[in-house]
Amino acid sequence: MEQEQIKELIRLALQARKAAYAPYSHFQVGAALLCGNGRVYTGCNIENASYGATCCAERTAVYKAVSQGERGFLAIAIAGGLGKDGPDGYAYPCGICRQVMKEFCGGSFLIIVAKGEEEYRVHTLEELLPCGFGGEALSGEERS
Ligand code: THU
Repeated sequence: MEQEQIKELIRLALQARKAAYAPYSHFQVGAALLCGNGRVYTGCNIENASYGATCCAERTAVYKAVSQGERGFLAIAIAGGLGKDGPDGYAYPCGICRQVMKEFCGGSFLIIVAKGEEEYRVHTLEELLPCGFGGEALSGEERS
């Protein structure tokens, strides 16, 4: 991915973070998911008084996209933290979100964690979820 495209995705994640509903943790997260067709779906975390009902920003973005009929995904930018003016650290996706990414994205899917447009790290899904569990295990297909 080109640097300009990465920065644009980060900008969208930072913008999405502003809509975070996080009255309990105050940890605000925004995500921007890039589809193979160039469309971008954004998401924020949405907390709930019954904590387990909370949805992470990454899953909000993935579910928005999938519910619109999207399937092929290239990358996601994630910006999260307690900072009021912007993320104060790198917010890595939780285990559940990594598993949801695995359902719809290949191992080379890019996960960009960002503090800002100039400060970011790029990983692949394979790096962040090695030896993951996927649908092929259930279909009896050959596993590597
Ligand atoms: N959160 C995300 O949105 N994404 C993650 O990958 C980690 C955690 C949210 C959920 C909750 O609203 C807050 O951060 C603290 O856990």
